[in-house]
Amino acid sequence: MCGIIGYIGPKVAYPILLTGLKRMEYRGYDSAGISTISIEDNQRAVNIVKKQGKVSNLENKQTELQGNLGLAHTRWATHGQPSELNSHPHFNDDKSLMLVHNGIIENYLTIKRNLEQRGYVFHTQTDTEVLTKLIDYYHKKCKQKLSTTLQNYEQKKDPLELALRAALHDVVGAYGIVLFHKDTNKLYAAKHGSPLVIGIGKNEHFVASDPAAFLDHTRRVLYLEDEDIAIIKENSYELKSLCSHNGECIKRKEDLVDWDITAVEKNGYEHFMLKEIMEQPQTLANCLAGRLDPQFNDIKFTLKLTLNFIKNIKRISIIACGTSSYAAMAGKFLIEKYLRIPTEVEVASEWRYKNPIISKDDLVIVISQSGETADTLAALKLAKQFGAKTFGIINVVGSTMSREVDSGIYIHAGPEICVASTKAFTAQVLCLNFLLIKLGKIRGDLTETQIQRMISNLLNTPELVKQSLNNIEQIKAAANLIKDKQSIFYLGRGINFATAKEGAIKIKEISYIHAEDFASGEMKHGPIALLEKGFPVVTFVNKNDPLYEKNLSSIQEAKARGAYIIVVADHIDSTLQSYADTILQVPKVPDYLQPLINTIPLQLLAYYTAKLRGCEIDQPKNLAKSVTVE
Ligand code: F6R
Repeated sequence: MCGIIGYIGPKVAYPILLTGLKRMEYRGYDSAGISTISIEDNQRAVNIVKKQGKVSNLENKQTELQGNLGLAHTRWATHGQPSELNSHPHFNDDKSLMLVHNGIIENYLTIKRNLEQRGYVFHTQTDTEVLTKLIDYYHKKCKQKLSTTLQNYEQKKDPLELALRAALHDVVGAYGIVLFHKDTNKLYAAKHGSPLVIGIGKNEHFVASDPAAFLDHTRRVLYLEDEDIAIIKENSYELKSLCSHNGECIKRKEDLVDWDITAVEKNGYEHFMLKEIMEQPQTLANCLAGRLDPQFNDIKFTLKLTLNFIKNIKRISIIACGTSSYAAMAGKFLIEKYLRIPTEVEVASEWRYKNPIISKDDLVIVISQSGETADTLAALKLAKQFGAKTFGIINVVGSTMSREVDSGIYIHAGPEICVASTKAFTAQVLCLNFLLIKLGKIRGDLTETQIQRMISNLLNTPELVKQSLNNIEQIKAAANLIKDKQSIFYLGRGINFATAKEGAIKIKEISYIHAEDFASGEMKHGPIALLEKGFPVVTFVNKNDPLYEKNLSSIQEAKARGAYIIVVADHIDSTLQSYADTILQVPKVPDYLQPLINTIPLQLLAYYTAKLRGCEIDQPKNLAKSVTVE
């Protein structure tokens, strides 16, 4: 949801900024812009190029964008339609101040009105132009004040830092911002709600929304926290807090990024989505590595919860958005079935505003690939305020949620670049199984034999996923049959209702075919009215499912209305063949692994359908990864 990068150092900034934007294009891709400061004949000049559309429109601009200091932005529009005018960077009237922003300034209209009364004129529809001009207003005021003050220590203060502080105190909303002023050799960054990370190189510094943007230059990073202000120079950086008025520097531990740049490249695949689907045997192996030991009959990860708390958990709430919330639904099914702990799953955007019932005996689990999703983060903070214990299932190492939770587990899926989530979902389901076993063991809800069996099945998942990836030709044929359809139903029962939801979101977001998911038994309560000859219905049949017969009945109801039936099944026999038009076979697994395995052919079905329809698979329209705004 908007990608930001800034650079200061001895190298030419433009190619670094351009490459950084390309690596972050998954965060937004409706317009992009770069601004640099160049020096010629001792004169400092600000250069700016902005374009509607993809980052590639900023290629070959080296002559216009010289200099060793710059910032850049790729946008996912919130305020104002995608256009060159609304794209970032935004600037003040004499273009001396340049700013890029990720987030939403909620009170921008009030601030805009105040500034208009002071003579400011606005040319765009964005909240970012308002923030830029607010900083400009305070900057002018601070410069004036500091030039008239007699106190020496006041004169040492940086007027732009003071202006930034003053402006951010006025602002309500979320931001990750980077700015510079023509007259100083510094980048300024500030964070509240939207991620920013500083890259620390040799005599050079970077600041970006994602370390992938600068990973070919340095792995040394410092993740900014909310209310941080960073003042970044070529050879050093200072970290301060917006909450401290004295402006003293903060010391914080740096980190080393432990993945390399190949993780964010396509490596010969046509799309990131296909690469990410195909690498699931490896990502799941990474997720399992060192955590499961059949000999010890246990899972290795730290639950920072007391024995007493775990034994007396009254309720579990799992909060997430989109695909992560479907993994949560699978988790709810398992926790209730195997541990008998009442578990609620709610999308974060609803839960955070419903005055949720939270008690100190509750465990609140957040699931997020990015670890930055605004609604899930707000829900997590709310749960903590009410004293609930929190646990995170998160992919992005060092993300805001990973630092906020009381304890948690990284899913180790590696960077997910395609906007549609695939490998994160399967690793989330695997981690929910880890949690299930851990809690089941401590509470005594699972027997040693059960645990042993579960662990040995979990250890087999990379191989089982490999087998599920083998059906490509058949999946392509099914894609060919549905590619021109207007609408598809995804039906699932029990734990596979979660899989149905995940299948439906995948196809709608990348192929733009309307898809709806239903609990299989609900179809007859209304949706069945839409069925007609050739209407595709995707569903699941697992041979050992206690509701096997009922699944067949649901298929029968749809088939009787002429529906075209695609079944993901763990067997093929004459009964199933008489019911299904297409069978996508997957290996036989127990219920706790079904969403993980059954989702694989549906990911591929969505991918090949989108491909046949000529869609932009990795960057679907209107979407962006990492939804850091409400
Ligand atoms: C769908 C998808 C989204 C995300 C959702 C939550 O393919 O990617 O529905 O799952 O925006 O994102 P995270 O998991 O980053 O919190």
